[in-house]
Amino acid sequence: MLRQALLVASRSDGVRRVLETAPFSSDMVRRFIAGETIEDAARVTGELTGEGLLVTLDVLGEDTHGKGRAEENTQHYIELLERIGAAGLGTRAEVSVKLSAMGQTFDEDLALNNAYRICDAARSAGTTVTLDMEEHTTVDSTLRIVHQLRRDFPDVGVVIQAYLRRAEEHCAELAYEGSRVRLCKGAYAAPSAVAFTDKEEVDKSFVRCMKVLMAGRGYPMLATHDPRLIEIAGALAVLHDRDADSFEYQMLYGIRPQEQRRLAAQGAQVRVYVAYGREWYPYFMRRLAERPANLRFFMRSLAGR
Ligand code: FDA
Repeated sequence: MLRQALLVASRSDGVRRVLETAPFSSDMVRRFIAGETIEDAARVTGELTGEGLLVTLDVLGEDTHGKGRAEENTQHYIELLERIGAAGLGTRAEVSVKLSAMGQTFDEDLALNNAYRICDAARSAGTTVTLDMEEHTTVDSTLRIVHQLRRDFPDVGVVIQAYLRRAEEHCAELAYEGSRVRLCKGAYAAPSAVAFTDKEEVDKSFVRCMKVLMAGRGYPMLATHDPRLIEIAGALAVLHDRDADSFEYQMLYGIRPQEQRRLAAQGAQVRVYVAYGREWYPYFMRRLAERPANLRFFMRSLAGR
């Protein structure tokens, strides 16, 4: 119930306006978001890569409704990629892109074109792009765009959300040579007609998807903080004789940082998803919805400011 309420609030402009007027006043916000500027992102990327972790950078912003705004978001990614290239970080830092920030909501061709330009900039920087998966209503459009981009950029990554009933089928279609697939549980509200709503069912689906991806010929990116699923991932890697560089674990900045370092110290590839920018509200609300106990800490920190 609380999860649903937080996810509904994540789309509320009213609540957003109130909370975003005081950016970064809360430790809770700072826990999950690297900062507001490209300099903040560069600093955190330097720290994480210095510790042997990989990074994927997300410029916050989503659900964009105007062409001008989609262009600004695209330019921001291109600038970020130029910085990654100039710093020689291409092998350690990539970017994650939300197509809704590129115009997908109102013009799929525009989103494709903007994503194409970002992929081009990523290639020049010696790195890759992964397309996030958002609301369940956008899955078909996102997969169409991924297939078109992969004609010219075969290394474009795609996200599959295990809570969707079609997830296993999509994993089977995507488990081909060179295909980079990030598997996560899924962070948005979705009706039971299309998604598993019971946590156990979602976890079981994650395991089925992971089995398909780890047995396949692609490059699985296992995005979870769940200790049980991380253990199963390790067992599947042994079962399928996968080298440490043939898959990676992924976690969000601010969540289980010690586990990120523990896995990396064991020789695993671990990529941290680092979000930054001024439009932190919907991303932050999804982090609260994943663990409603976070809400208590957040309310306390707001009361104390
Ligand atoms: P689960 O929620 O069961 O958490 C397992 C444990 O992790 C918890 O017991 C707790 O210890 C810790 N934890 C998890 N979330 C926490 C939080 N918010 N605060 C504190 N502790 C927390 N989703 C999506 O729909 N589209 C996408 O494109 C992506 N992309 C993405 C990239 C990467 C790299 C990651 C790691 C995740 C995503 N997600 C996502 C989010 C994903 O769908 C999911 O909501 C979160 O990862 C939480 O699910 P877990 O698998 O961690 O399990």
